[in-house]
Amino acid sequence: MVEITIKRKPAYLHHCLRCPVLIGSYHGVRKTKKNEIFQGLTMNFDEVILNRRSIRGYKPDPVPRELIEEIITLAMRAPSSMNTQPWSFYVITGEPLARIRAGNTERNLAGVPHSREFRIGEPFTGKHRERQVGVAKQLFSAMGIAREDKEKRQDWVLRGFRQFDAPVSIIVTYDRELADSDDTAFDCGAVATALVNAAWSRGLGTVINSQGIMQSPVVREHAGIAEDQVIMKSIALGWPDETFPANAVVSTRKSVEEATVFVGFED
Ligand SMILES: Cc1cc2nc3c(=O)[nH]c(=O)nc-3n(C[C@H](O)[C@H](O)[C@H](O)COP(=O)(O)O)c2cc1C
Repeated sequence: MVEITIKRKPAYLHHCLRCPVLIGSYHGVRKTKKNEIFQGLTMNFDEVILNRRSIRGYKPDPVPRELIEEIITLAMRAPSSMNTQPWSFYVITGEPLARIRAGNTERNLAGVPHSREFRIGEPFTGKHRERQVGVAKQLFSAMGIAREDKEKRQDWVLRGFRQFDAPVSIIVTYDRELADSDDTAFDCGAVATALVNAAWSRGLGTVINSQGIMQSPVVREHAGIAEDQVIMKSIALGWPDETFPANAVVSTRKSVEEATVFVGFED
């Protein structure tokens, strides 16, 4: 096994959007073989969890394939039901991604009904709808999009269908033979969450999104998704554009009190 010491800052490291901490800066880092996980990052777990947010504006700069492999390696430490690991990743960039963007945009503008490959459920109501509207208001306010400005709202929606113009889109799929189990969706959520946090720890932004797979036939065709795979979700990935206003939005969370029932504890 060859030991390589990385002496200088790799080109993909940069500063956190809101603080002077250098994301993913290395101290005496050693990489022993391809795909082995880097050690010695300065960002700790809490910093990753607390600072990560969805990124909807990207620099055009490419993301090195090796870095994406490292992030997927980390993400796949996620737990899964009976360790089935039902997930796969189609990592798309360049021409194929351009074709997916064009196909998504064309079909959505033409009013082609959305076709996803998993259950969607009914439109949100009550507190779920309130939260959906809440984050939309935060985003529109940051972007200066007025409620009645139909054109800008449409542009914003189309941006989502274009995968937020990110240089990379990761399509998360799952093994069709496990499609009957809700554990499969749970496992895909776990790996996707791990992936976005791993990306953030390396200075990369992401947004998990349904918009990118609302026209799943387009994605299936241009990404060459195998027939034994079901398309679950897309994750846009790239270097955050610090000047893009929506990237500063910090979404709200319900309180621990609201979310949690403690049983058998002394008050
Ligand atoms: C399953 C799922 C689907 C999502 N779909 C979209 C989407 O289509 N478009 C979008 O802009 N954001 C989408 N998001 C991002 C959420 O809006 C975002 O995670 C949420 O508002 C919390 O904000 P945060 O990620 O910045 O903490 C999705 C997130 C998840 C987990």
